[in-house]
Amino acid sequence: MKQLQEKILTDGQVLSDSVLKVDSFLNHQIDPVLMQAIGEEFASKFADEGITKILTLESSGIAPAMMTGLVLGVPVIFARKRKSLTLINELYTASVHSFTKNETNEISVSQKFIGKDDVVLILDDFLANGQAVLGLIDIIEQADAALGGVAIVIEKGFQSGGKMIRDRGVRVESLANIASLANGKVEFLEEVPA
Ligand code: G4P
Ligand code: NA
Ligand code: NA
Repeated sequence: MKQLQEKILTDGQVLSDSVLKVDSFLNHQIDPVLMQAIGEEFASKFADEGITKILTLESSGIAPAMMTGLVLGVPVIFARKRKSLTLINELYTASVHSFTKNETNEISVSQKFIGKDDVVLILDDFLANGQAVLGLIDIIEQADAALGGVAIVIEKGFQSGGKMIRDRGVRVESLANIASLANGKVEFLEEVPA
């Protein structure tokens, strides 16, 4: 997606060979106009999949998920990383290990909101090692729901998550796929169209 690639090039900061900082439009301050365009793009890519719910993980997945849900006309659920006080029973839970942060988190979703008739689109801001997506797939399987695909804003194609999820036969669509962050420079798998 050209608009996103250009935003990454102008506003993203390469922190290391493996980490891209995008807190000026996605991870802290949020650009609503860009989020709307992202929502439209995901909605058109997954228009024929019969999606009934979008499932993301708090917090940075929520903004692009909301915009996609608005266009598709379906509810957006965010898995919680901390257990809510009012929600202690009837949860689907999965553990998600972050290699980046070297910690494991329990994520949870109320059983009320996903059921066997749902076709769920997983959506997240980043795809790195794919552990968050695996945890969300685990929750969809517990609910006996169908997985309609995986929508990712920024994929780090030089890490293993994308291949691992696609190798399971799952449709993964990322709007920007980064081939390399070496030497302080962002290189996309597909170049920014002229
Ligand atoms: P994985 O799920 O693909 O295995 O990813 P990983 O454990 O590496 O990611 C842990 C957190 O770091 C996630 O955010 C993920 O979105 C984020 N992340 C991974 N690589 C990058 C990167 O290059 N740049 C940025 N900005 N973030 C990255 P989180 O802890 O769930 O935080 P939140 O922002 O959603 O609250
Ligand atoms: Na995230
Ligand atoms: Na994040």
